[in-house]
Amino acid sequence: MIGFVYLDDQEWPPAGPPTIWRYWRRLPVDDPRAAVTLGEGGTPLLPLPLTPAHDVFVKDETRNPTGSHKDRALSVAISRCVSLGRKASVVVSAGSTGLSHAAYCAHAGITSIVAIPAATDPRRIYPLTAMGSRVIRVQSDIDAIIARTGEIARSRGLFQSSTTRRANPFQTEAAKTIAFEIVDTLGEPPDFVVVPVGGGGTIAGIWRGFRELRERGSIARSPRFIGVVPEGYDALAAAYRKGIETQAEFDALPYSAVTPTLMPKLAHAHPPDGLEALAAVKDSGGYFCVATNRDAEEGQARFATGFGHYVELSSAGVLAATHSVLRQLDTGRRASIVLILCGSGYRESFVDIERNAIPENRSSLDALDASIEEALRPAAAAP
Ligand SMILES: Cc1ncc(COP(=O)(O)O)c(C=O)c1O
Repeated sequence: MIGFVYLDDQEWPPAGPPTIWRYWRRLPVDDPRAAVTLGEGGTPLLPLPLTPAHDVFVKDETRNPTGSHKDRALSVAISRCVSLGRKASVVVSAGSTGLSHAAYCAHAGITSIVAIPAATDPRRIYPLTAMGSRVIRVQSDIDAIIARTGEIARSRGLFQSSTTRRANPFQTEAAKTIAFEIVDTLGEPPDFVVVPVGGGGTIAGIWRGFRELRERGSIARSPRFIGVVPEGYDALAAAYRKGIETQAEFDALPYSAVTPTLMPKLAHAHPPDGLEALAAVKDSGGYFCVATNRDAEEGQARFATGFGHYVELSSAGVLAATHSVLRQLDTGRRASIVLILCGSGYRESFVDIERNAIPENRSSLDALDASIEEALRPAAAAP
C-alpha cells in the first residue's frame, strides 16, 4: 500500500479559506494554486441535542458542493489527474462518487467517463449526464465492473478516480481533512466518531487524519471509531467478531452483492478498503454497529423532523449507532460524540417519495384560511 510522507513545520491550524485546501501541506499535491476546487470542506460541526448528559455533534458533510463528503476525495483525485496532464478520468459509481466525479471533471474541463450497472435508476444517472459525463451502462454487477474497468484503465494508462485506496491512493488522503476540521473546531479530539462504512476508505482516511495529528503532537489521543454497516452487508462486523486479519480470510466470508438494502451507498459484500477500516475500528478501541433498514428509515425521519437535517437513507443509520454508544456511556463523565452525516437527502428524494406518499391535502383558495387553521392544530400523537 502506498503511503505519503509530509514535511510540515508550519503553525497549526493552518490559515486560509475554509476548504480542504487550507490543509494542502498534508495532501498529496505540489501546488495548491492548481487545485480543482468547488469549495469542498469547511463543513459545519453542529450540536445535536440528543441528551443533556453528553456533547453530540454532527459533521454536516451534506453541505459539500454535490451533497456528500466524496467531494473532498474527488477534488484531490481530479487535481492529481490535471497535474499529470491527463484529459480524461474514469470511475465506476452510480452514487456519490459518480456525481462528484461529474462535477469536478466538468469544472476542470476534462472528460468524465462513468461506468455503472445497467440496472441503475435513470434518476441517478441524469445529474451525471447534465454535467457532461459519458455514462456507460454495463450489463453486469458493480464488483465485476470495478474489476474490469480497473484492468482496462491500467492497460490503457487511463486515470482512475476510484475512491478505493488501492486504485487511487491520492484521493483517500482527502478524508483526513474531516479529522483536521473536527479538531480545529472542538480544540481537541472527540471521544467517539460515528461513520457510515461502504468501501471503507472514508473511515480509514479519517482515522489516518487523527493519527497524523497525534504524530505531529497536536493531539494526545485519538477518538474511538464506530463503523456503521448495513444489515446484509456486515462482513466487517463479522470480521471484527471473528478476529480476522488477512485479506484471504476476509474475502472468504460468505457475503454477496445481491441482498436488497435501503442503504445502497454502503452495499459492499467485501469492502475494498475493508482491512484498513477494520484496523481503524480495532486500534481505536471502537466497534461496528449493524444498521437495519428500519434504523435507516427511523433515523432519516428523526434527523429530518427532529433536527431539520434531511439525509439520505445510507447516512441515517448513524443515529441508531449513536444511541447504542450513549446507552453504554457512564453518565458521570461527559463524553463527546461526532456523527458524520455523509450524504444529503435532497439528491435522493425520488427514492423517499416512492416509499412515503405525499399527503393529499389540497385546498381551494377560498378554503386556505381554514386549511391554515387546521395546520396550526397540534399533530395527533402517534398510536
Ligand atoms: C452517502 C455515503 N455515505 C457513506 C459512504 C461510505 O464511504 P466509503 O465507501 O468510503 O466507506 C458513501 C460511499 O459512497 C456514501 O455515498
